[in-house]
Amino acid sequence: MFFPNPLTVDDIRTTLATKHLGQYLHLHRELASTNGEAIALAQSGAKHGTVVVADSQTAGRGRQARSWFSPGGVNLYCSILVRPSNIHIPFGDWLSWIPLASAVALTETVRTVAGVPLSLKWPNDLLFNEKKIGGILCENGTDQSKQAFVVIGIGLNVNVEPDSFPPDLAVTAGSLMQGSQRPIDRNRLLSQLLNDLEQVLDELGLEGPRRLQHAYTAACATIGKRVRVVLAGSRELLGVAQAIGRDGALLVLPSPPLPQGNQQVMEIRTADVIHLRE
Ligand code: BTN
Repeated sequence: MFFPNPLTVDDIRTTLATKHLGQYLHLHRELASTNGEAIALAQSGAKHGTVVVADSQTAGRGRQARSWFSPGGVNLYCSILVRPSNIHIPFGDWLSWIPLASAVALTETVRTVAGVPLSLKWPNDLLFNEKKIGGILCENGTDQSKQAFVVIGIGLNVNVEPDSFPPDLAVTAGSLMQGSQRPIDRNRLLSQLLNDLEQVLDELGLEGPRRLQHAYTAACATIGKRVRVVLAGSRELLGVAQAIGRDGALLVLPSPPLPQGNQQVMEIRTADVIHLRE
């Protein structure tokens, strides 16, 4: 189904209701990576809330050094620059919750705009019917004035046809249009995303992650599942995911028990998690 829906700054602004996010909006026909561009802008002092959007990416990047499938005209690829001004919680807590808080915001956006209930695979894969329809890549750094920043990179498969995915994604990836049974307006989706993300980030900075931890847990399909956790250096852990920790870690009970007899719940912070069938 062809749905001509060009991204335009005017259309995005029509329903944008934010104070900061998207007030500086850079829209490109094509970029290597919106995260790369947003990081370059951040390093030269761009303001909190600056947003970079591209209709297509030639070197879109995903977590764990993977690439992100980024064809033109159909999906959303955007990066949001956030700086930790006016935060009332420790910087480390803020930083570790940004990816999970962003995932919570995205589930709200997609429910509002497309009527599709997404679930989350820890840490921040967006799933519909167990197919991955979106992902989040957060990259942080400091600028020339030694000010910290985070770039939240969001990729959403919106109106891409299922048979357009490359063979390595064909089984695992899906698009929002499959869930909603109709094409989705990318301009509206982006403005709502920025509205929701601003609210969630304000809440995180002012009140901390308490409600977000509940909201994330409620949406997280990983909790209660048998999982294979692929750690750094290709080490693996089999277990059952129990909960989300106070700092956003995934708490996993090893099963079968570890040979050392240490039956403590493991706190997983950086890893790939695979849901296993029961
Ligand atoms: C993942 O691996 O699940 C995260 C994917 C994040 C992709 C987005 S697309 C917009 C932004 N720019 C990038 O190069 N990557 C992120």
